[in-house]
Amino acid sequence: MTSTLDITPIARALGAEISGVNLADDLSNAQFDEIHRAFLDHHVIFFRDQADLTPDAQKRFARRFGTLNVHPYVKGMDGHPELLEIIKEPEDKLNFGGGWHSDMSFLEEPALGSILYGVEIPAFGGDTLFANQIAAYEALSDGMKEMLGGLNAIHSASREYSAKGQSAQDRQSMQSEVAIDAPEFEHPVVRTHPETGRKGLYVNPAFTLRFAGMTKRESRPLLNFLFEHSRDERFTCRFRWSQNAVAFWDNRCCWHYALNDYQGQRRHMRRATVNGDRPR
Ligand code: SIN
Repeated sequence: MTSTLDITPIARALGAEISGVNLADDLSNAQFDEIHRAFLDHHVIFFRDQADLTPDAQKRFARRFGTLNVHPYVKGMDGHPELLEIIKEPEDKLNFGGGWHSDMSFLEEPALGSILYGVEIPAFGGDTLFANQIAAYEALSDGMKEMLGGLNAIHSASREYSAKGQSAQDRQSMQSEVAIDAPEFEHPVVRTHPETGRKGLYVNPAFTLRFAGMTKRESRPLLNFLFEHSRDERFTCRFRWSQNAVAFWDNRCCWHYALNDYQGQRRHMRRATVNGDRPR
């Protein structure tokens, strides 16, 4: 098959910019397959100058990958409940997603991927960082891999969306709900990617509370080690946004982090989240 897309990696560990496609078009199966392949190979892919990606077009593109999530704690966009408007006003202090996490790991069937569109980008700052959790797993010793392979962890939105949690406090423009009674779900600490079969770490600082069968206090030292290890610079990439750019990341094997370094400026993004399966 001759490629019509240009795919350029942006860092050693993960991330590639793709040009030569308008995501608002009715993509052919060949174009879709190529984008899908790049998504699996690079874990997060970026597209610039997607000015035609209206809310309906964004949902149409996202639906090629699965059904769309309606966030249980954050109100969706008017007329488009499946889209989140992630807005930070110049006077807001906190930002949504301002900590390392994997989207929706607090669900029984967490998100496959998230497709974020840049509506209004600050003149400086507001980049998003990503970290490859397959690379983080592969860099561990055999002994650590073996031990982690036998562990499950408990995930919940209860902390992040509690009254003190960053996501719930960031309510001025986001309309988040407090989720004190959010359910807990158990996922393997080492997840096998359902499409590539590759193993990666699947715990994150925002939503992983403890290991299954252990107290929070017992879990903390090993979780702290994993949280620090997993964001090591060698596993990361950094995306500088431009207006109408798109980032599409694989939550099954990536963390991401929205930097909050543009105080006094407005940043407006729009996210579609594709539902995934139960981690194994
Ligand atoms: C998110 O966590 O989905 C937000 C990422 C960003 O705004 O860069």
